[in-house]
Amino acid sequence: MSTYEFRIDGHLNAHPGDMPGELRLEHHHDGTTTLTGPVADQAALHGMLERLRDAGTTLLSLRALPEPAVTPLQRIDWPVRTDRLTLRPGRPADADGVWQYRRLEPVARWLTELPADADAFRARFAAPARLATTLVVERDGQLIGDLMVRVENAWAQAEVADAARAVQAELGWVFDPAHQGQGFATEAVRELLRLCFAELGLRRVTALCFADNEPSWRLMERVGMRRESHNVADSLHRSGRWLDGLGYALLAEEWNRPI
Ligand SMILES: CC(C)(COP(=O)(O)OP(=O)(O)OC[C@H]1O[C@@H](n2cnc3c(N)ncnc32)[C@H](O)[C@@H]1OP(=O)(O)O)[C@@H](O)C(=O)NCCC(=O)NCCS
Repeated sequence: MSTYEFRIDGHLNAHPGDMPGELRLEHHHDGTTTLTGPVADQAALHGMLERLRDAGTTLLSLRALPEPAVTPLQRIDWPVRTDRLTLRPGRPADADGVWQYRRLEPVARWLTELPADADAFRARFAAPARLATTLVVERDGQLIGDLMVRVENAWAQAEVADAARAVQAELGWVFDPAHQGQGFATEAVRELLRLCFAELGLRRVTALCFADNEPSWRLMERVGMRRESHNVADSLHRSGRWLDGLGYALLAEEWNRPI
C-alpha cells in the first residue's frame, strides 16, 4: 500500500464518495485537481489511471508520496480527558458502536455517505486512511460520538509550498442522538481545538456543513468558529435537492484571543 497523488487539469466534478478507495479530492486555485490517497498495488494504480482516462481527464503528474513516520494524531498522548469525556483514536473494533448511531436517519441525513449495511460500514471505517483521522468520544466507557481531524496542506504558491504542508485541519463531528443536547459535542470540540492548536501547532481549522444543518453550525459558533462562506445551492443532497453549504474556520490567534 502506497500513497499516491494524481494531479489533473481542470476541476474534476466528482464527489469524494465517488472516488475509489479513500482518495481525497482537492480543487486548487490554479485550476487543477489533486486526488490523494492509498493505492493497494500496481493493478489498482493502473485501474485508477484507466478511470481517469475514461473520465476524459488530462493527468498532469503522478507521484508516490513518502509515508509519514507518524500520523499527526499519533503525536498526541492518548487518551485525552475532559470534565465528562474521554477522547481517543478510533480502532476497527469501534465500527459497530459508531454504526449504531450513524445509520439512524436524523444522523445519516447530514453525512457524506450512508453505507448499505454494517459490513460495508466496517470496511470503510477500518480503512487506514480513515482511522488515521478518526477519534471516538466516550462517556463512562460508552462510545457516544466520533470526530474527524483531517490534517492537510494549505493552498500555497509553488515556491513556498513546503511551508504550507500539514498546517491546517478540517474537522467533523457526529454524536449519538441519545447523547445530544447536553453539551457533549461542545465539550469534545473545544478540546479538539486545543489539541489542534496547542498540541499539533496548526495555524487554522475549518469545518463544512449544509446550511440546513443548524445544530452543526450552531456548534461551530458555540466553540468560536467564524462563518467564512455561504455557498448557494452548491451541494446535492441524496434527497435530490440542491442545498446551500456553509464554511467555518478559526485561526490559532483567534482561538488564543483573550475574552
Ligand atoms: C452536530 C451535532 C454533533 C450537535 O450536537 P448537539 O447535541 O446539538 O451539541 P452539544 O452536545 O454541544 O449540545 C448543545 C445543546 O445542549 C445544551 N447544553 C446543555 N448542557 C450544555 C453544556 N454544558 N454545554 C453546552 N451546551 C449544553 C445547549 O444549550 C444546546 O442545546 P440547544 O441545541 O437546545 O441550544 C449533532 O446534532 C449531530 O451529531 N448531528 C448529526 C451528525 C451531523 O450533522 N454532523 C455534522 C455534519 S456537518
